[in-house]
Amino acid sequence: MKKTLIIAATAAFMMTGLAATEALAGGFNVKRCKACHAVSKKKVGPSWKDVAAAYGDEATLAGVFKSGFAVSDRKIAASEAKWKKKAGMMTGQYKKLIKGHEDEAAKALFDAVARGKI
Ligand code: HEC
Repeated sequence: MKKTLIIAATAAFMMTGLAATEALAGGFNVKRCKACHAVSKKKVGPSWKDVAAAYGDEATLAGVFKSGFAVSDRKIAASEAKWKKKAGMMTGQYKKLIKGHEDEAAKALFDAVARGKI
C-alpha cells in the first residue's frame, strides 16, 4: 500500500519534471544530450554546429540514425580518428536515447543549432 503511494508520487513528480522541460518532443528529450554536447563548442563530443555542417540537413542525419548509426556511416567519426576513438560512447547514447526517435532527434539537433542552445 505504502509502496504504491510512493510509486504514484514519484511518477507524478517525474511527469511534472518532464513537462517542465520545454524541449521534450514526443518522448525524445534533447536535454539529455547536453552532458556531452554544446551547440558551438566541443565538449565530450563534437559541437552540433559541426555535426549540422557535416550532415547538411535533418533528413540525412535521420537517415543515418535509421540505418543503424554504423560508425563507418557517421560523417564525423568516420573521418576524424579522434572522434572515432570515442564512437562507442555515442553508440551507447544512440541505443538508449535515439533509437525509435530518429526523426525527432535529427530535428531537435538542427533546431538547437538554429536556436543557439540545446
Ligand atoms: C556520454 C556522452 C554523449 C552523450 C550523452 C551524447 N553524445 Fe553524441 N557524441 C558523443 C561523442 C563522444 C561523439 C563523437 C563520436 C562519434 O561521432 O561517434 C558524439 C557524436 C555525435 C554525433 C555525430 C556522429 C558522427 O560521428 O557523425 C551526433 C549526431 C550526436 N552525437 C548526437 C547526439 C544526440 C542527439 C544526443 C542526445 C540524444 C547525444 N549525441 C548524446 C558523446 C555523447
